[in-house]
Amino acid sequence: MVPKISTLGGYIFEYQKSVTNPTGFWSNIAESFYWRKKWDHILDWDFRSGLTKWFQGAKLNLTENIFERHLFFRGNQPAIIWEPNDPSEAHRTLTYSELFIEVQRFSNVLKGLGIKKGDRVAIYLPMVPELVIALLACARIGAVHSVIFAGFSAQSLGERLQDAGAKLLITSDGGYRGSKTIPIKQIADDAMNMCKCVTTAIVLKRTGENIPMVDGRDHWYHDLMKGAGDTCEAEEMDSEDPLFILYTSGSTGKPKGLVHTTGGYMVYTAYTFKNVFQYGDGDVYFCSADIGWITGHSYLVYGPLLSGATSLMFEGVPTWPDAGRFWDIIDKHKVNQFYTAPTAIRSLMALGMDWLQNKSLATLKVLGTVGEPINEAAWHWYHDHIGKNRCPIVDTWWQTETGGIMISPMAGITPTKPSYATMPLMGIQPMIVDQNGKQLMGNSVEGNLCISYPWPGMARTIWGDHERFVNTYFTTYPGLYFTGDGVKRDEDGYYRILGRVDDVINVSGHRLGTAEIENAINEHPLVDESAVVGFSHPIKGQGIYAYVVCTHFSTGGEEGIRNSIMMAVSTMIGPFAKPDKIQIVTGLPKTRSGKIMRRILLKIAEGKTSEFGDITTLLDPEIVNDIVKGSKEI
Ligand code: WTA
Repeated sequence: MVPKISTLGGYIFEYQKSVTNPTGFWSNIAESFYWRKKWDHILDWDFRSGLTKWFQGAKLNLTENIFERHLFFRGNQPAIIWEPNDPSEAHRTLTYSELFIEVQRFSNVLKGLGIKKGDRVAIYLPMVPELVIALLACARIGAVHSVIFAGFSAQSLGERLQDAGAKLLITSDGGYRGSKTIPIKQIADDAMNMCKCVTTAIVLKRTGENIPMVDGRDHWYHDLMKGAGDTCEAEEMDSEDPLFILYTSGSTGKPKGLVHTTGGYMVYTAYTFKNVFQYGDGDVYFCSADIGWITGHSYLVYGPLLSGATSLMFEGVPTWPDAGRFWDIIDKHKVNQFYTAPTAIRSLMALGMDWLQNKSLATLKVLGTVGEPINEAAWHWYHDHIGKNRCPIVDTWWQTETGGIMISPMAGITPTKPSYATMPLMGIQPMIVDQNGKQLMGNSVEGNLCISYPWPGMARTIWGDHERFVNTYFTTYPGLYFTGDGVKRDEDGYYRILGRVDDVINVSGHRLGTAEIENAINEHPLVDESAVVGFSHPIKGQGIYAYVVCTHFSTGGEEGIRNSIMMAVSTMIGPFAKPDKIQIVTGLPKTRSGKIMRRILLKIAEGKTSEFGDITTLLDPEIVNDIVKGSKEI
């Protein structure tokens, strides 16, 4: 059994142990898992070359730690409770035994289609139980899964399929999201036509609409499953074999395929899940994240299932059929731990208290947030009205790259402070540095957040581009992992995450690179150039503000251009990346060397009309006044 800390003194004691003797600490935790062969060596690392290896020489299969390890005691316990988009449709429950059979059958399906250890399998599915089955079947046979969030466009999906060299794509006819039906297969078809690597597709029937199936390439999930055997021996994996690739945005154009490996990720997600949420036997845990993002991977699927938990997944959105949907789910399934994003809290808070009437929420014990800073008002609303002043809030800071939660309270153990992620978890050694890389010691300091020592859950590389991995994370401050986040350590030694210090913006918890959006906008034939910045948004956390230079206009004038830019971004990335504001400008504030002065654009986006600092180095300082004037009309 993975050990669980239960007191503040216990945390302080274990934390000290974990940083003075990290390898001893983690090998002790790793002992709770089932390894076919134990490690020869616990840790090898060198942050200068971006190399980290945990539990070297160990052999295992992660799914044996979910199924074989738990079946005897938990065979009949629900592993997954699935709540559909439409509350009038019946929910589904899969016990550990049932899920195991489905996973083995689907493992056999994949094998039958020629998928072998190390092959990449892409998954583009709505939030349905088959998504979990697909992930675990890949892990069972040693295929590397790459889940692409089903809100991404064909273009984005195609790029990701190509980059990973995916052989097979698992998708569905369509998907439900609130009142909308999403044409998933159509998008998948366009994406498969763009890339050369995918030769086989498995299509799940969800919405039942009429879709074309390509002969020889496309197979129905239910047809394949009919003939599949229900036992499948797990493939023996090395601790450092890749488990999955997950794409995320960075400050430069192309999304990065971060690679997570098997042994360390398993140990880290299970340990942090149990300790942060203080999950207890029989609890029902509900993470509202989509499995297309890292939160869904680590804390809907892997962390909970490795811990023998009951994990609830939800297909829909918090505001459909009405804004009480989350609370109804919590009451219906007697949820004990609830984990969501601040943006969801803010949007529900804005819709008022009526949606909380007649909701009991009495089973809740722990509330969690993730993905973006939570403002104090949202924290208090969550605490007072959802947690009824009795549920601790765990504000969990982490990243796709970190694999698991890094800085967070442990529920009911670490005293909380609104909007603070509080203290590092076991084994995590945060370091705050200034612009020059000088370590800022002591409390009451603010700077850039780095981590100075490896932890088992960290990403090991960027798929196909280790040099980029090193350059992105390990060269800004040599010898340290740089997170890209600003942070404050207050007078009590508590950490508060201040947001990104690079060109990444966080829109409703979705991480987007400004360069990525600019590239999409620049594809528009009438656009000469553009600059995108984030601005404070009351619901989304950050909104997208695009300054666009167009010297030629089509018949629709400025409005027409704005609309077609929105369409272009939707097509290139996905609807969630559409700018909130588009300002057509005659030029951008550039220095004589041609560099865009983003700090000015940021201030204008925040509504400032003066105090832009020194603008004398600009090629054309007048442009600033023009932009300020124009911004008032947006
Ligand atoms: C931000 C999501 C403040 C941060 C798990 C980070 C947060 C980025 C928090 C990673 C938090 C995540 N408080 N900011 N509790 N959690 N972030 O890769 O800027 O989608 O770098 O991983 O989200 O986003 P990602």
